[in-house]
Amino acid sequence: MKIAVVGTGYVGLVTGTCFAEVGIDVTCIDIDQKKIDNLKQGILPIYEPGLEEMVSRNAEKGRLQFSTNLAEGIHDADVAFIAVGTPPGEDGSADLKYVLAVARGIGEHMNSYGVIVTKSTVPVGTAAKVRAEIEKALEKRGVDIEFDVASNPEFLKEGAAIDDFLKPDRIVVGVASERAEEVMTKLYKPFLLNGHPIIFMDIPSAEMTKYAANSMLATKISFMNDIANLCEIMGADVNKVRQGIGSDARIGTKFIYPGIGYGGSCFPKDVKALIKTAAENGYDMQVLKAVENVNEAQKSVLFDKVNKHFAGDLQGKKMAIWGLSFKPKTDDMREAPSLVIIERLLEAGCKVSAYDPVAIKEAKHTLGDRITYAKDQFEALIDADALLIVTEWPEFRSPNFEVLGRLMKQKAIFDGRNIYDAKELSEVGFTYHCIGIRA
Ligand code: UGA
Repeated sequence: MKIAVVGTGYVGLVTGTCFAEVGIDVTCIDIDQKKIDNLKQGILPIYEPGLEEMVSRNAEKGRLQFSTNLAEGIHDADVAFIAVGTPPGEDGSADLKYVLAVARGIGEHMNSYGVIVTKSTVPVGTAAKVRAEIEKALEKRGVDIEFDVASNPEFLKEGAAIDDFLKPDRIVVGVASERAEEVMTKLYKPFLLNGHPIIFMDIPSAEMTKYAANSMLATKISFMNDIANLCEIMGADVNKVRQGIGSDARIGTKFIYPGIGYGGSCFPKDVKALIKTAAENGYDMQVLKAVENVNEAQKSVLFDKVNKHFAGDLQGKKMAIWGLSFKPKTDDMREAPSLVIIERLLEAGCKVSAYDPVAIKEAKHTLGDRITYAKDQFEALIDADALLIVTEWPEFRSPNFEVLGRLMKQKAIFDGRNIYDAKELSEVGFTYHCIGIRA
């Protein structure tokens, strides 16, 4: 089989590379010449564990190619994935201009039957717009080429993307013809060998599935953050409550970890977009609005604890931050709660010294030289009045607290991810605050 993947961002690059990994002939296409030149040399635009090696291996074998030429890339392709960005417009709705421009380009250049698949997260109704755009372009050319559109939402998590792609919980595909279903079944066959299901449905349902999945996950997180805040007030321990409810299989143990709010490029954007789509269609998504409000408020919870601890006197205090990315194993800073926390610390007059294993370069784009960046986690602590755990990178989990105590000016830890044990820390003389447990 031969496929084209348009857009070499996160989703496109992982998708293209993983299909090449199982032996499919893949061309990844992007309009950004620099990005394509870099990819040809094995330089990736994103950090994702294992991806760089996989790109090189498949590029060497000739199964994975990079090009800026859409016409060449989609020539004779059985399937063309659209995996370009859908940035939120000013009103929160997903901006489809890149998706539709690619659709037009495909219509202008396709030469034989193919399935055009939206992989970007797009509002319900987008596949129909993609179809219309392709039809218009074909009409202009005066040619009659048969094609199908399909919706194949992506469920991969940053930091675990390759595993999620190769061993998916499920593959969801929205189709409107048997022919498209056959092509998509053949394409995904190598991933179905271990019993992972491929679920076919109508196109609008597939489009909605993506938003519903992300919204449900965001809801779990905001719900737990609400419960955590209440636990603290009432003197309950949210870690115990989490275990208590998680062992009910109907609730499950995953995605019920309280923290400093969800971030990243997906949950915030998709929750907003679904609220917007619903409103445009006369429906009020009350639960999701609350999910969003709780999340916004949660980003300030750690700062409020710091402020309370120092009785509002933060002027000139030095704060060490461990972790900047919105979650571990990624350098993604989009909607990272760290940005809100740092902003509030700076506003209050603090000096901030931050360390992150991979996100410093990305963080500098937004934060510039308003904070200092440490070369390792210990350098960040020198003379610090407090340490804030913002992202739960594995390397932060078990530090030598004696060393921390010696480096810091004051022994205070504010843990936004609940990775430490309160008892252990009090034994070594630390003041310890976390989420959902009264200090
Ligand atoms: C999310 C979904 O998990 C993927 O299934 C989906 O494909 C992807 O969005 C997407 O739409 O492309 P991702 O944004 O990479 O993936 O990150 P997650 O691992 O889901 O974490 C999102 C946020 O929730 C992070 O800020 C994380 O710290 C937070 N979180 C997660 C919690 O606060 N508590 C939890 O228990 C779990």
